[in-house]
Amino acid sequence: SSAAVQAYRASVLHFSNDPAFHQQAYEWHEDGLLIIQDGKVVAAGDYAQLKNSLPQTTDVQDYRGKIIMPGFIDTHIHYPQTDMIASPAAGLLPWLETYTFPTERKFSDPAHAQEVASFFLDELLRCGTTTAMVYCTVHPESVEAFFAESEARNLRMVAGKVMMDRNCPEFLRDGAETGARESENLIKKWHKRGRQLYAITPRFAPTSSDAQMQLAGELARAYPDVYLQTHVAENTEEVAWVKALYPEARSYLDVYDHYGMLRPRSMYGHCIWLDDADRTRMAETQSAVSFCPTSNLFLGSGLFDFERADAHQVSLSLATDVGGGTSFSMLQTMNEAYKVARLGGSYLPALRMFYLATLGGARSMQLEGTIGNFLPGAEADFIVLDPQATPLLARRTARTNSMEELLFALAMLGDDRTVLATYAAGQLVHQRQT
Ligand code: GUN
Ligand code: ZN
Repeated sequence: SSAAVQAYRASVLHFSNDPAFHQQAYEWHEDGLLIIQDGKVVAAGDYAQLKNSLPQTTDVQDYRGKIIMPGFIDTHIHYPQTDMIASPAAGLLPWLETYTFPTERKFSDPAHAQEVASFFLDELLRCGTTTAMVYCTVHPESVEAFFAESEARNLRMVAGKVMMDRNCPEFLRDGAETGARESENLIKKWHKRGRQLYAITPRFAPTSSDAQMQLAGELARAYPDVYLQTHVAENTEEVAWVKALYPEARSYLDVYDHYGMLRPRSMYGHCIWLDDADRTRMAETQSAVSFCPTSNLFLGSGLFDFERADAHQVSLSLATDVGGGTSFSMLQTMNEAYKVARLGGSYLPALRMFYLATLGGARSMQLEGTIGNFLPGAEADFIVLDPQATPLLARRTARTNSMEELLFALAMLGDDRTVLATYAAGQLVHQRQT
């Protein structure tokens, strides 16, 4: 191809495997080079080795002292909840009633949806997140607005129309048939259009009728390469409610299983109150867990159990769950994930956290080779982290003695300020103002 080669010199980190289960799981090039062409990765490696492969005219962007890694992947977030982040309530169900549903109501207006989607995507990019699995609202207009804004930025995003036809306000209700038809129309229009991907999105079992659950499962079977996302076992009151609504089910997760919703490309938010039989089903069906620590702590939902999830080798990733989550930053999310792990008696190394926020997400979405690491041919979504972004970070990272300590300091002290630049498909889409 004749398109110009771009090259970036920095420390380069990316993963080839989960460091919790593999010795050789990552590559770290202290003086590294990332080479891009046509929005794709050509190579990532040592500067000294790769510099001779560059065409004479290549202009190497010098990011020495910074760290380049794949863009973060946030596997569970609600764009319509941007304007109600940090709203107080006594747990999930009152929070939904008091703040979430009235806020989501406004997304029947396409202009409002477009304005919020634009802000939301810019905020993700400021935080270094280049891919997310996104809940829209029940209104098809909210999905149209989101994908239009994502397409305009050439981002790889997954999103879907919320399906809910009971136990919610009248103004946010679809019907089983109309919800399924609208979802299918959106799949046909947006799934795999450019970098956009669709997710069938029943909100959670309590807000869908038997008929709607049935139709969502049928859609999932008819479109196996489309995603499916929902919430499960987040809160004990929610779990009790599901037990009352579906008395014949063995567990909350079993409700989704009954409707054929456990499958590859299904993403289950929270998964706090699962048992080992549930974890076994998730692993054998290749369903994925999305762990949302800032949300779980903010809403008082509970502590995700790493030890049990890892014992079953369930596919795991990290997510913000904004607006239940309190930050768009995956670095802040790592900070709270670490503390949740500690409280549960386990330990999360920094390398594992960065894996979960990059390749772990891509694997959960069956997108390894496309996003999440720097394999040749992967889409060039990457970020440049600045260990000297703040006076405190600069002071602390000057005193770290290993890569693990450096990454750990970034995970504990980092936030949007740590992200110097964000690139999507090889194009600069955010640069921090200094
Ligand atoms: N369960 C059902 N809907 C929601 C939501 O919007 N946020 C969270 N955190 N949990 C949910
Ligand atoms: Zn959520």
